[in-house]
Amino acid sequence: VRQNPLNPAGMTEQVTYTGPQRILSGIQPTGNLHLGNYLGALKKFTDLQAKGWEGLYCVVDLHAITFPQDPEALAGQTRQIAAAMLASGLDPDESTIFVQSSVRAHSELAWIFNCVTRMGWLEKMTQFKDKSGKDSERVSVGLFDYPVLQAADILIYKATHVPVGEDQKQHLELTRNIAARFNQQFNAPGFFPLPEGLIEGPGARIMSLKDGTKKMSKSDPAENSRINLIDDAATIARKIKKSKTDTLGDMPETVEQLDGRPEVANLVGIYAALAGQSDEQVLTEYGGKGFGTFKPALADLAVAQLSPITQEMRRLLDDPAEIDVALAKGAEKANALAEPIIEEVRRVVGFWQV
Ligand code: TRP
Repeated sequence: VRQNPLNPAGMTEQVTYTGPQRILSGIQPTGNLHLGNYLGALKKFTDLQAKGWEGLYCVVDLHAITFPQDPEALAGQTRQIAAAMLASGLDPDESTIFVQSSVRAHSELAWIFNCVTRMGWLEKMTQFKDKSGKDSERVSVGLFDYPVLQAADILIYKATHVPVGEDQKQHLELTRNIAARFNQQFNAPGFFPLPEGLIEGPGARIMSLKDGTKKMSKSDPAENSRINLIDDAATIARKIKKSKTDTLGDMPETVEQLDGRPEVANLVGIYAALAGQSDEQVLTEYGGKGFGTFKPALADLAVAQLSPITQEMRRLLDDPAEIDVALAKGAEKANALAEPIIEEVRRVVGFWQV
């Protein structure tokens, strides 16, 4: 029996889901992808694929329109994210790579979940508060409802595991709450799994190169605060060399000494994530050395890892037929999984059967 922290009053759910383990994650087609997206999402996805996980990875265009998007640009942005997924090593045969709006069942399940979700649960969502700011009366209803659609993305495939960044923890908690509530309300124990986040690991928190306490972000006005996946080698090297450190001396010798040095900790974390090492291993090699040694090494590593991906992205985008074929195949595979599940849901809810 598990207790759901969003609902401390004590709604409990017997974990009886016995279906296959399956991963789902999504990336929004807004803005350029950066190193944080690569290490926190794309690289994680390809690592999971390499470990043999069944995975569905979608470009979430339905989520993108919670803020107005230029209709002329949206499909192009969607294709860019798909290109990044493919270029990072997601394989359209091994994994399912698709566009959210190509599978209508996401929207249908989101509506049903709207009627299961309580207002109070959504009112607790900190991401809505952050994104709506002082303007919460004027933002779209879709922005408020965003996490319910995310729950539908996951549960329309009965996905059990969700690789995401730390900022999505609360949305996953909500997803479990919705699943448990649905199972209970419709007397269908174990119908939906209660999905777990895969959050830990190197790259979980890549911070701004200019402020080690702020996440690396597409919306940061300071271009030097992030490394974009489409940056060329010279730009990557320059941004790393210009990244902020502090006045506390050379590279520390131990992980404990990273405490209170957020910018240095971030650079060490980036190196570790790119190299597939621990922070300890990085400090064993670079502890006591100056940033004049460490930063160029980090720049070389970043360029070596990212430039093949950048080049492959460019190649794919130059002749997007390959991307479009992959997305068509992905849509077919995703629909084939989602269709029987939405049919089951319709029966469970009691909808008219034609
Ligand atoms: N909200 C997620 C983010 O901003 C994107 C997303 C949408 C997602 N649907 C999802 C992530 C389903 C995981 C699973 O990062």
